[in-house]
Amino acid sequence: MTGNRIGLFTEIEKEIFYKIILSRRDVRRNFIRKKISNKVLLRILTAAHHAPSVGYSQPWNFILIRDRNSRLKIKESFSKERLKSIELLAMDKERKRKYLDLKLEGILESNLNICVTYDHKRFGPYIIGRMTIKEAGIYSVCCAIQNLWLAARAENIGVGWVSIINNKDLKRILKLPSPVKPIAYLCLGYITKFEVEPDLQSQNWLSRLDLEKVINYEQWDGGNSLKDWEGFNQRLTRKNA
Ligand SMILES: Cc1cc2nc3c(=O)[nH]c(=O)nc-3n(C[C@H](O)[C@H](O)[C@H](O)COP(=O)(O)O)c2cc1C
Repeated sequence: MTGNRIGLFTEIEKEIFYKIILSRRDVRRNFIRKKISNKVLLRILTAAHHAPSVGYSQPWNFILIRDRNSRLKIKESFSKERLKSIELLAMDKERKRKYLDLKLEGILESNLNICVTYDHKRFGPYIIGRMTIKEAGIYSVCCAIQNLWLAARAENIGVGWVSIINNKDLKRILKLPSPVKPIAYLCLGYITKFEVEPDLQSQNWLSRLDLEKVINYEQWDGGNSLKDWEGFNQRLTRKNA
């Protein structure tokens, strides 16, 4: 750890950290042929493996896929699922047109595919923190995926998450044992450039909400204004004094 002996980060380190977060993108195109070396790959996977996990259960596995045959089968599953999605948009011509223009995977063009899985049985059945909220195991895998995504961005490697794949197909193609569930299918590779905005924003599908719209103060209906909240806190402090 850099910074100092009590684990504090410098201003420059903080700046870099936020820069990585804000410039991470979901990447499905512009892949180049450069191979991800095993050294870089292990650094990225080490970051993923250091994610928090409920009860320290570390319920993830990372299946590394380079074989073109497996990828072709997985792409087939994607194509079938994509068609189902298109059918659901039959009544909405404008959205359907936009959807057809979207590139939603880079399964064959990327250098490496990774399937991140969840093993409910690992260290179980008693897992601290998972007895009340069963999904906490899957949340842990998502923490690992986000670490992987950010570490890849720090290495200038693009990552795209493809969820338009049937899990039954993934289980069959990757020979997953029955308690193991696929959580994410990721396509990784060096690319020509990182976009500044999410593709779904630049292609007018949806845009980022204002931060203040997603912060609630004290309760769900507690308002969305930081200024009002400051006033509330001051009144509360005076009342309790
Ligand atoms: C759980 C999850 C599933 C996703 N599935 C897909 C997908 O199937 N295809 C795709 O192109 N992007 C997929 N994405 C990427 C999102 O579309 C993307 O994160 C979002 O548009 C914001 O863009 P950004 O990641 O570049 O900030 C997925 C993201 C998450 C977190």
